[in-house]
Amino acid sequence: MRALDLIIKKRDKQPLTKPEIDFLIAGYAHDEVPDYQMSAWAMAVLLNGMNDQEITDLTMAMAHSGEVLDLSEIGKLVVDKHSTGGVGDKTTLSVAPMVAACGLPVGKMSGRGLGFSGGTIDKLESIPGFRSNLSTDEFISQLKQIGIVLTGQSADLAPADGKLYALRDVTGTVPSIPLIASSVMSKKIAGGADAIVLDVKVGKGAFMQTLDEARELANVMVSIGNLSGRRVIAVLSPMDQPLGEAVGNALELKEAVELLRGKAPKDYRYHCMHLAAYMLILGKKAASMQEALAMAEATIADGSAMIKFEELIAAQGGDVSYIRELDRLPKARIHKTITATKSGWVRTVDAKEVGESSVLLGAGRSKKDDKIDFGVGILVKVKIGDMVAEKQPLFEVHANDEEKLNQVLEKLRNAVEIVDEPVEAPPFFWDVIGLNE
Ligand code: URA
Repeated sequence: MRALDLIIKKRDKQPLTKPEIDFLIAGYAHDEVPDYQMSAWAMAVLLNGMNDQEITDLTMAMAHSGEVLDLSEIGKLVVDKHSTGGVGDKTTLSVAPMVAACGLPVGKMSGRGLGFSGGTIDKLESIPGFRSNLSTDEFISQLKQIGIVLTGQSADLAPADGKLYALRDVTGTVPSIPLIASSVMSKKIAGGADAIVLDVKVGKGAFMQTLDEARELANVMVSIGNLSGRRVIAVLSPMDQPLGEAVGNALELKEAVELLRGKAPKDYRYHCMHLAAYMLILGKKAASMQEALAMAEATIADGSAMIKFEELIAAQGGDVSYIRELDRLPKARIHKTITATKSGWVRTVDAKEVGESSVLLGAGRSKKDDKIDFGVGILVKVKIGDMVAEKQPLFEVHANDEEKLNQVLEKLRNAVEIVDEPVEAPPFFWDVIGLNE
């Protein structure tokens, strides 16, 4: 078999067989298939799609490119969550400690930034010393000891996805249902959790632009999860505007920690409380949404979620003083405010423009080996539906480079639309799939 023939087959809209997919993924994981062939193949998949059987085979091939964890020795149900990628989506950082503080172990393998969307691992690495490349033994022993793990891909866990994910980030091959579904679910299957909450984002700042596409992605992932014996819920969340206020690594980490201390933007708080509640229901810690929401709230009120987050950071080698004194986190040199040029109601805060601006400032990558600037980013000061006055702040840009700042100022000015008529705020969620309270 040759990788070239499989690229041609996909280019010509032919389905690939399981042995062909296994060959390609194993070859890529072992550096026998080069990046340039894998990029061409990923682009052919993006353009021509895959059928359900191919998506399942691709997921399983990537999950089995490393170890698939057996977490039965933990002796408790283990839950996991995953977002399909959004702007300002720092949910895992708040939700995982909340759920773990309720006594439900959370073992999660997260990603880095992808395209214009941020990644949990990049955000966590704003903390000096934080290790995101745990071995499987470390993963399991930490989960046993403190009930929470947030790690990135390693040579052990879904390494093929780790490589393909980084390649897709810089080759324009992110927004594809087969590639996203297999990427997310291979990590979830390899991570070994029994129950998984999927957060499928839809809108301008998501890889799925319409509710129909998001629903299709959610259904594919739920069915792959169920096929592999996992309990799965998928929520469909709007992502036309950024979630919360902060976009950028250290800024988002700070906002996530502030929520654990009881202070957060309303949309971010609502989102986190509900995701935590879905995880508690799926993990059989609560029988109803009402009970689960109360449990999640209690972890903030009694400080137990914050304590759990500190335990997590310390266990993975991070310097806890950076989350105790948030001012120590990396900061940008230049702060510039963009204000409204007229009064009215906010109709658009384009999440994609904001996400791309954050990447341009240095918070993400445009080449695989680009270094992240942890301190840069954007604070979004308005939400869709808000009434604003002329000169009211819309964005606060945190930059380290004048030239990049100027490019971004222009882009952000066009990211907001203010109209003369009142505008309805979007819902917090569009739908939930697979929830049986
Ligand atoms: N999250 C992932 O893990 N993979 C994707 O492709 C998109 C979001």
